[in-house]
Amino acid sequence: MFKLDHKSILIGASVVASTALLLTGCLSSSSSTNEKTPAKVQANALAGPYTGKIGAIDGGVIYPRENGMYTAYVLNEQSTKGINHGRVPTANEIKAWDLDALPDGTGLPEGEGSVEEGDELYEAQCASCHGDFGGGGHGYPQLAGGNQSKDENGIVITLKNQREYGKTDAPKRTVGTYWPVATTLFTYIRDAMPYATPKSLSNDEVYAITAYILAQNYIKIDGEVMDDEYVLNAEKLAKVVLPNKDGFYPNIDGPTGPDDVKAFYADRAKNIGSGTRCMTDCKDPGGQDGKTEATLVRIDYEMSDVVPPYSTVRDLPPEVEDVTISKAEKMYNESCKVCHANDNMGAPALGDADAWEDVMDNGFDQVLRNAIDGMGGMPPKGGNDSLTSDEVKSIVEFMINSSK
Ligand code: HEC
Ligand code: HEC
Repeated sequence: MFKLDHKSILIGASVVASTALLLTGCLSSSSSTNEKTPAKVQANALAGPYTGKIGAIDGGVIYPRENGMYTAYVLNEQSTKGINHGRVPTANEIKAWDLDALPDGTGLPEGEGSVEEGDELYEAQCASCHGDFGGGGHGYPQLAGGNQSKDENGIVITLKNQREYGKTDAPKRTVGTYWPVATTLFTYIRDAMPYATPKSLSNDEVYAITAYILAQNYIKIDGEVMDDEYVLNAEKLAKVVLPNKDGFYPNIDGPTGPDDVKAFYADRAKNIGSGTRCMTDCKDPGGQDGKTEATLVRIDYEMSDVVPPYSTVRDLPPEVEDVTISKAEKMYNESCKVCHANDNMGAPALGDADAWEDVMDNGFDQVLRNAIDGMGGMPPKGGNDSLTSDEVKSIVEFMINSSK
């Protein structure tokens, strides 16, 4: 009996959904404990235009809305005036993320690094996942050596070439066979790698590693072979032409990009296929007899033997204890390096004597307190709560001593 009433009350309540939800909550909780709760009275008072002031009913607060209606939630006036999430980012925060580099090299930072330097860095920081010489084999993406065989015109076979079984070995997906633009290689490595500590490499280091990976893919720049001594910088990186540069379509780069995309989608039949979408019982209704045209579009080239196979490795490789560095440096590497390796995030960079001199104007005690309590973009203890104050102290000392 009560249930029925309850239901009709809810239906009768011609109010916004949120209020109905509030009512359900209030009514069902009171109904179980006290049958005599004048639920109907309350609900009737609620249904219809709100005339009174902000009130509380059964613990729930109601707020007036437009048109004399009310709601269970405060109307956020600001949400109707514009976006109001968080605060305006600081100049340094914008600087840390506004770091695109266009295919023509616009936006690439200053810096340089040689293939040889890249070799060493790669061995130390990348090979454990991406394999020796970028050759893969550890369950992570292969970066080089995808397939250097050439077609009859001497062009490196890339993934834009359809696979032709029996004729040539199919290319594997690497920087040399797949990536269309080399500036992305720089920004990707800088922003995303090494996997566990992205943004920990300096620009020079990223140039060096990029040079090394390009060299492993036998890329020539301006006809010049990239040997060990080859030094890569922004200007040279922008000149790189990767074998698969035309393998992506439509071409979204450049001023004609939007038009290219429109033209591509305008001709769906040619570019995407005009088959019928089908979820169940997808037998081709036509095409079998040689007279009716098939309406289901078949995938001509099914990739079933991807090399290397998709990774089944889920864990990162085991950590190897490096006994050549101090405990403070190790803790620095784990908790602080990600932001302090350079000034991208506005942090005083390790080794930047000027920056640390400025910081130390406040005196060691204050600097240490800032490291422990946090300040601006610097989270308390670098975000690692498990560090004791003494440990933070030893790291800060290490940072200061390494920046003189
Ligand atoms: C702990 C393992 C690990 C380490 C170390 C590592 N990477 Fe990676 N790398 C990955 C994973 C995983 C991906 C795939 C990420 C994804 O697709 O989201 C990847 C992707 C890449 C890619 C893109 C590959 C592609 O074709 O899509 C490049 C380039 C790359 N890493 C370079 C590097 C460089 C350079 C270093 C050393 C500075 C490095 N990685 C260190 C795990 C690692
Ligand atoms: C998420 C990024 C981030 C991490 C992680 C980080 N820092 Fe910082 N740190 C900053 C930024 C940004 C500043 C500059 C803050 C400012 O000037 O407003 C800073 C400033 C500092 C300063 C100078 C404080 C001062 O008085 O000017 C010290 C010391 C410091 N960090 C120590 C550390 C230590 C130690 C760790 C690791 C335990 C660490 N940081 C981890 C971003 C970080």
